[in-house]
Amino acid sequence: MAEEKIIISYNGKSSECPVTIGTENEAAMDIANLRDDTGLVTLDFGYKNTGATKSAITFLDGELGILRYRGYEIADLAEKSNFTEVAYLLLYGELPTKIQLDEFNSKLQANSDVPAEVAAILKAMPKGTHPMAQLTAATITLSGVYTKDVSKATDETIINVLAKFPVLVAMVMRNYEGLDFIPNDKSLDYVSNFLNMAFGKKASPVITEAMDKLLILHADHEQNCSTSAVRMVGSSNANIYASICGGIAALWGPLHGGANQAVLEQLEQIEKDGGDTSKFVAMAKDKASGFRLMGFGHRVYKNFDPRAKIIKKSTDDVLSDLNINDKKLKIAMELEQAALHDSYFVDRKLYPNVDFYSGIIYNAIGFPTDVFTTLFALGRIPGWVSQWKEMKENKEPIGRPRQIYTGATVRPYSEIGSR
Ligand code: ACO
Repeated sequence: MAEEKIIISYNGKSSECPVTIGTENEAAMDIANLRDDTGLVTLDFGYKNTGATKSAITFLDGELGILRYRGYEIADLAEKSNFTEVAYLLLYGELPTKIQLDEFNSKLQANSDVPAEVAAILKAMPKGTHPMAQLTAATITLSGVYTKDVSKATDETIINVLAKFPVLVAMVMRNYEGLDFIPNDKSLDYVSNFLNMAFGKKASPVITEAMDKLLILHADHEQNCSTSAVRMVGSSNANIYASICGGIAALWGPLHGGANQAVLEQLEQIEKDGGDTSKFVAMAKDKASGFRLMGFGHRVYKNFDPRAKIIKKSTDDVLSDLNINDKKLKIAMELEQAALHDSYFVDRKLYPNVDFYSGIIYNAIGFPTDVFTTLFALGRIPGWVSQWKEMKENKEPIGRPRQIYTGATVRPYSEIGSR
């Protein structure tokens, strides 16, 4: 079939834009030559309709509520797989055989020790430094210790990052709480070792399973804000640790990963205020208030967040395992029901997202609210690394968007005395 083209004409000049079709029939207009041909650039605040790359890792359809890693449904992976198997899938494109998975897990265990300098750096940070700042510092410290060329997507580099990340996150949490570090136990699996290092005791099977599931659900989400940051930083050939720090920084914000912390803080605020959810729903609807219901809405999911459905079930399991009957949970459920039936939220397709529930589970497990977003980072690390690897393998050019300048036009410099 002949390649389809879209002709764009402007100011007497025209450009032929080839149409690219993905494997799920998503169509894109390739505008690479548009500026050279016509002088036009595209303008798209927040990249709401801009495809920055071609990727074979994750597919999502926000209208239909579909999320698949390498073609596998998120619900199947959450139910049948485990986090390191999903990390392997994201990185290498296929589910591992038993031998491949055992080997992968062994490599992760063997490379999990972090250098002593990390502990020293964390301890030197001002007390109360936000865990996401601490995680950035711990991550970038690794770049000073591993002196090989970490701007190349070698297996060794990638395994090194994945293996050490849970240890860093656990250390950050302990440091934030002013507690001693728990030694890394290489006999434990990835998630059990993380929980053991975080809490200094073995977690119950229900909690370990819920944590594993949460990490799977967060493992990748195609070109979201933090992943785009990782790809953007990496596109300049910055090393993998620097690229991941870009992702951690982007994830920190409450409109992205920071929402899980913000959700819990908001539930606490509502509880303190007497628990009247209708008051807060009304505030969220009043634009002048500047208040948003955290954990509701999503840039791409406009029907439901498939991850939220799965995590809701885990929330019930964890709370009943721990015998928790929390007032915050009651408030959360009231908010959810109010939003699902209120025309403001229905008309704008604002549904609970994954972070509406994840904060409730993290809280029940015993994580301090301020570390929630580092847990999101722990889940997202396979996605960041896989996307970074893909970007390198595709030999993508440095990311460098254009702009439309709206400032002053040329004017003469005026001497300080005459201003
Ligand atoms: N509460 C109240 N109103 C909202 C909310 C909310 N949580 N989210 C969006 N709206 C309203 C907006 O005011 C806007 O209304 P308008 O059309 O009348 O002006 C409309 O819904 C569309 O909102 P946008 O901000 O344009 O949507 P966008 O796609 O840019 O933003 C976002 C998506 C950032 C997630 C937004 O819904 C939000 O701020 N949610 C709360 C924060 C949150 O939960 N973030 C986590 C995202 S999931 C993740 O990162 C894993």
